[in-house]
Amino acid sequence: MTKDYGRYFNRPSHKKARKRVSKETAHIDFDKHINIKNIGVGKHYLLQTYGCQGNEADSETMQGILEALGFKPTDKEEKADIIILNTCAIRENAENRVFGELGRLKQYKTTKPDLLLAVAGCMPQEESVVNRLLEKYPYVDLIFGTHNIYKLPEYIETALHGKERVVEVFSEEGQIVENMPKRRDHPAKAWVNIMFGCDEFCTYCVVPYTRGKERSRAMGDILAEVDSLIKEGYQEVTLLGQNVNAYGRDKADSNISFAALLEALGKTAINRVRFTTSHPNDFDQATIDVIAKYDNMMPHIHLPVQSGSDSVLKKMNRKYTKASYLALIEAIKANIPGVSITTDIIVGFPTETEADFLETLDLVEQVDFEGAFTFVFSPRANTPAAKYEDKISLSEKKSRLKRLNERINAGYKKGHERFYQTTQYVLVDGLSKKSDKILAGYTPHNKLVNMPGEADLIGKIVPVNITEAKTWFLKGEIIGKP
Ligand code: 5AD
Ligand code: SF4
Repeated sequence: MTKDYGRYFNRPSHKKARKRVSKETAHIDFDKHINIKNIGVGKHYLLQTYGCQGNEADSETMQGILEALGFKPTDKEEKADIIILNTCAIRENAENRVFGELGRLKQYKTTKPDLLLAVAGCMPQEESVVNRLLEKYPYVDLIFGTHNIYKLPEYIETALHGKERVVEVFSEEGQIVENMPKRRDHPAKAWVNIMFGCDEFCTYCVVPYTRGKERSRAMGDILAEVDSLIKEGYQEVTLLGQNVNAYGRDKADSNISFAALLEALGKTAINRVRFTTSHPNDFDQATIDVIAKYDNMMPHIHLPVQSGSDSVLKKMNRKYTKASYLALIEAIKANIPGVSITTDIIVGFPTETEADFLETLDLVEQVDFEGAFTFVFSPRANTPAAKYEDKISLSEKKSRLKRLNERINAGYKKGHERFYQTTQYVLVDGLSKKSDKILAGYTPHNKLVNMPGEADLIGKIVPVNITEAKTWFLKGEIIGKP
């Protein structure tokens, strides 16, 4: 029997999320479909973001929508009228943190019964999570996923007035929604989504199910967004997608590709272009050439390898080999002199032997990565790898992670040392975490620099002499004007 849990009841379905259809995705305009009313005037919102840059960008959209409704931001839980957790499902510990946080936030529902508590993002896209929320967390008022952020005004209105729980998760991705309001967090750096979803289906990964099929935005819409960011004074854009190199693959027009998009952006007045994340399979020579051609393409490439063992890569469904990855790195280094390369690596994948792990260490040695996000494999519900027999003990997994991190940390240090006593152009991000007299910013190679300076330089690009190289950052002195 189905219990009546509230309005719009719509649970996620793994079967539907796995489906792929080849038709092009329709685009709709937020302004034409969504009715904005002043339902948040006099009220405050608190938004907590977990996970990747995709979630950070989604949170900026939620902030934009909430502020269009009249809500004001607050970082005080007791002051908030709505608390939204924008969640991540990539590994089990990300999910556990959210369940823990919900347990802690329950107290505010007692002291402030009108508080709306919402769970958004990737976790609600999973059947098992929604079932757990419905059964064990009845005080959560609003549950919605990654495909329907644009309907937030309607959900809040229903939850506020109807006093009913709103649960709506779409398993099939709908349209691409353009012109959603945004309240960006940074004054000079902006996320720009270029595509959504992923069709790679790496066997360990939940993303193809939580984010749906690959859908590329129209090139004209992306260029128009960047154009207005330039006019607003932004210095840097980071193009976002689960696999940016697949940009345009879902479009009928074969001239639309990631390299073509970069070429168009190379000709604009934006000072810095970055992108994340790339997939080695789709990273082509045309893309390498266009990065090499334009000064505003930053010389840092994050290229997740996941493993250096061919047999593990095969089980992961990565569709490349250690040798082909190394050949790609070779081509990138040959064409983009001094490029900085970082990666993602998973250790303890179910079938990984000590010999497989040594292949990974050897690959790390050969590439000379200047940074990496390293993870222990985390089985995710309904993914193929979760069913593989896992014979590796936890202590062995932890030991492999430690051995890998020692090598990776040496790479961070080496990657910083090469800039000692050079001049670097640093985009000043803000004040350093430790002092309001020290500024922090990033070089073209994406190296963090701390330097003495005044807050009026935030958002500007300044020349800096690098005076010290540490493992995690550089120190420098500003030697000129923006
Ligand atoms: N377990 C551990 N790490 C994972 N990643 C993705 N799925 C898993 C998983 N199930 C890592 C990959 C990916 C990064 C974003 O997260 O390295 O590139
Ligand atoms: Fe996950 Fe693989 Fe897609 Fe990356 S490319 S989001 S790891 S399925």
